Amino acid sequence: MMAVPMVGRAGALDELRGAWSRVRSGRRPVTAVVTGAAGTGKTALVTAFRQERATTNVLAGTARVHSPAPYDWLAAVLAGRDTRGLDVPPDALAWLKQDPDVPRERYTPEALLRIAVAAVRGLVGTHHAVLVVEDLHALDPASLNLIAELGSTDLPVLLLVTSQPAEAALSPELTTRTLARLGGHPGAVRRHLGGLLPAEVGEVLRHVYGSEAGAPELAEAVWRRTDGNPYRLSELIAVEGAAVCEISRRPELTAREREVLGLLAEGMPNKQIARVLGISVRTVTVHVSNLLRKTGASSRTEAALWALSGRRSGDHHVGWRDNDTAARSQSSA
Ligand SMILES: Nc1ncnc2c1ncn2[C@@H]1O[C@H](COP(=O)(O)OP(=O)(O)OP(=O)(O)O)[C@@H](O)[C@H]1O
Ligand SMILES: [Mg+2]
Repeated sequence: MMAVPMVGRAGALDELRGAWSRVRSGRRPVTAVVTGAAGTGKTALVTAFRQERATTNVLAGTARVHSPAPYDWLAAVLAGRDTRGLDVPPDALAWLKQDPDVPRERYTPEALLRIAVAAVRGLVGTHHAVLVVEDLHALDPASLNLIAELGSTDLPVLLLVTSQPAEAALSPELTTRTLARLGGHPGAVRRHLGGLLPAEVGEVLRHVYGSEAGAPELAEAVWRRTDGNPYRLSELIAVEGAAVCEISRRPELTAREREVLGLLAEGMPNKQIARVLGISVRTVTVHVSNLLRKTGASSRTEAALWALSGRRSGDHHVGWRDNDTAARSQSSA
């Protein structure tokens, strides 16, 4: 699929650039905390920022997806690096790298934290660097302590952190505290990414499909279906392809209407649909007549056929194709 350009984040990117220039003119860390729900484009923003400075020293780590372990962030940073020049005890370093054969008991948690900070200090050296902490909400407590600690050092670094809201976190309280501490430093950048605006959705659509996708009603309809969430938008584009351009011409059915349509397509009479859904036959009749009106179908069989043709093309989660689109996809098959 064609790469989608990043839209609507120019202000956020500018703030990061500003933070980076403050790092370069000072002698202490500057923190930038980018929050937002899943798929709002936190990683895309960080990637765009990193692409602008290809020669900068970047230490990047993220949480392990399964079973978080102590110091996951640092272990990810250290993985595959030459650490021989670091002035830290080799056995502690091996433990921080999560070498399974090294016992930890030798060091207290406080000592390990000091050693972890020293390791990062060694990797940063005397130059400016960017420390990227992706998905802080999913990190282990030891990593959270380390990140918070790094924000209070004298290192010339941009500490660039992304996180989903603390409710989604592994340790919500500690995540809230860490985000507050990081965002509370003087000069810190705090950016919450929401969904894209309808006009920004339109911009993405025009980029992918050309001027044919320029109608504001289309942007509005796609925005409503995706809440402007970039991830959901890119999924919709991947699943639907050019059929996205027809979305504003498709009837918008309620969740209940889609349910009724699905059962109707299985050949059920109203009475049975009522039993399955636990509603009255009269209510089913109302849903069916609304369905016929919205879809312009002249009979329940016709409505059922359309539902089935939509399903064959794999678009069950975004509704179903109207007559026009079904005919087109048949002729192009
Ligand atoms: N501003 C944008 N404009 C266009 N597309 C975008 C934008 N931001 C993100 N995308 C696209 O949306 C998808 C999700 O973005 P991304 O992975 O950056 O989200 P995220 O906030 O990091 O999600 P998560 O919390 O799950 O890590 C990607 O395919 C990305 O290319
Ligand atoms: Mg991400």
